[in-house]
Amino acid sequence: MAALRAFKSAESHGSEVPDIVCYEKQDDWGGQWNFTWRTGTDHYGEPVHSSMYRNLWSNGPKEALEFAEYTFDEHFGRPISSYPPREVLWDYIDGRASQSGVKDKVLFAHAVRWSEFDDETQKFTLTVDDLRHKKTLTEVFDEIIVSTGHFSFPNVPDFDDIETFPGEVIHAHEFRGAERFAGQRLLLIGGSYSAEDIGIQSHKMGARQVTMSYRSAPQGFAWPEGVDEVPQVSRFDGSVATFVDGTSREFDAVVLCTGYLHHYPFLPHDAQIDSPNNLYPTGLYRGVTWQANPRIHYLGAQDQWFTFNMFDAQAWFVRDLILGRIELPDAAARQAHIDAWLDAYSQVDDDPAAVRFQADYIRDLIDQTDYPMFDLDEVVDTFLAWKKDKKSNILTYRDQAYRSVMTGTMATVHHTAWLAELDDSRERYLSAQPTADEAQGAAEPA
Ligand SMILES: Cc1cc2nc3c(=O)[nH]c(=O)nc-3n(C[C@H](O)[C@H](O)[C@H](O)COP(=O)(O)OP(=O)(O)OC[C@H]3O[C@@H](n4cnc5c(N)ncnc54)[C@H](O)[C@@H]3O)c2cc1C
Ligand SMILES: NC(=O)c1ccc[n+]([C@@H]2O[C@H](COP(=O)([O-])OP(=O)(O)OC[C@H]3O[C@@H](n4cnc5c(N)ncnc54)[C@H](OP(=O)(O)O)[C@@H]3O)[C@@H](O)[C@H]2O)c1
Repeated sequence: MAALRAFKSAESHGSEVPDIVCYEKQDDWGGQWNFTWRTGTDHYGEPVHSSMYRNLWSNGPKEALEFAEYTFDEHFGRPISSYPPREVLWDYIDGRASQSGVKDKVLFAHAVRWSEFDDETQKFTLTVDDLRHKKTLTEVFDEIIVSTGHFSFPNVPDFDDIETFPGEVIHAHEFRGAERFAGQRLLLIGGSYSAEDIGIQSHKMGARQVTMSYRSAPQGFAWPEGVDEVPQVSRFDGSVATFVDGTSREFDAVVLCTGYLHHYPFLPHDAQIDSPNNLYPTGLYRGVTWQANPRIHYLGAQDQWFTFNMFDAQAWFVRDLILGRIELPDAAARQAHIDAWLDAYSQVDDDPAAVRFQADYIRDLIDQTDYPMFDLDEVVDTFLAWKKDKKSNILTYRDQAYRSVMTGTMATVHHTAWLAELDDSRERYLSAQPTADEAQGAAEPA
């Protein structure tokens, strides 16, 4: 969606742009934000893409992800709160892309199966399945932009004797809502955002006990009663999990919050990112262009502090490379650039340094394009304040409000606290102050 918007922006400023085709395997756009209740396979028999769950709200302030050239004010016409639920964020990204008039560039229900590069012609032949009409097509392209995300193929580690666990064992990718964990003792394996948020969602929905098991380091939040952290699981014995510190507990259900794999089955291996989820995956010039074949570009391949505005910065940069507005250096110069950034990344040793690293990365991209520069240092401050809010109270951080660096608008305080809100719909979110009855109905967390 960012790439389509970037080319449209160049076109509306008088540039000639190439023919563009966007293949999207789902029936609509929005990627992760295009929520589905399904797990496993979709109605075409394709692996379900989105890992989002029904009650997901933004886990960072919207002021940190806002597009620089399509603000929340422009979309909603009034200030809203800092942590919208997923339907509201989908509305925002859909609104911008729809306003760009680019939907006709997208072939929906088209799954890219394979891409073959011809060294002689320097062109790609893509094989694509039209899922609705059950037809296989081939098309030839000069450049490809891979925008398939990297939070869809679960990383599923094995644990000794986990097959003896009698309850359900799922990965966070299959988690759709925490209501079913009410009254249960839940084990979440992993120590990052999925464990944190599925943990507090489950607490909100009445789980009896939530245990999070970390491999490297505890998250260290001041967890509410009934939620805590333990080290790595060493083995299972039926419903009992034993941890590496020798303690053990009994559980009713397990959710593997163990992250995702970079996986691009439609590309040959020598064109695929092979990296853990980090801020500078190897093999990408300026974090986007495949070093071994610079006609392949990836958007959003990094781990993400910044999201939507970083994707824009990348899309504008890739667009300008493709339009010839930015010169592509030779392979040696590109490698030197990659090495310098990897070296800088190797010095990053804590979260503030990581946010600043990503801000510097975005600044470097925007500096070279006509994407509106925004105050990245202020966004870094917003991220640091967000981290502080989470430390002070993990259950109330989503009730805080931030100022937009794009418009100066102060966010509103949402009419209902996150912990008390049981209706995450866009309609409810945008409704004025709910009636006393509605508020009371919502204000009964488990
Ligand atoms: C559970 C979860 C919660 C998140 N919450 C937040 C949040 O609160 N705030 C935030 O800023 N970010 C959040 N993110 C980060 C999220 O990654 C980004 O916000 C964003 O959705 C990434 O966009 P993307 O376009 O790179 O990838 P995606 O959103 O994953 O979109 C990729 C698209 O590619 C399509 N596709 C894949 N393979 C093919 C193929 N072979 N052929 C055709 N089409 C294909 C998919 O159908 C999908 O539409 C969250 C991520 C996850 C997993
Ligand atoms: N809006 C929201 O509320 C929300 C909710 C959920 C997720 N998200 C987004 O989803 C994305 C992915 O987050 P994520 O938490 O799923 O993935 P992640 O950030 O990549 O973290 C993966 C976690 O799994 C652990 N892990 C991996 N292999 C393991 C093993 N063998 N044993 C034990 N632990 C293991 C890792 O531990 P180590 O630290 O030891 O590597 C790490 O803690 C992020 O962008 C996040 O923001 C957002």
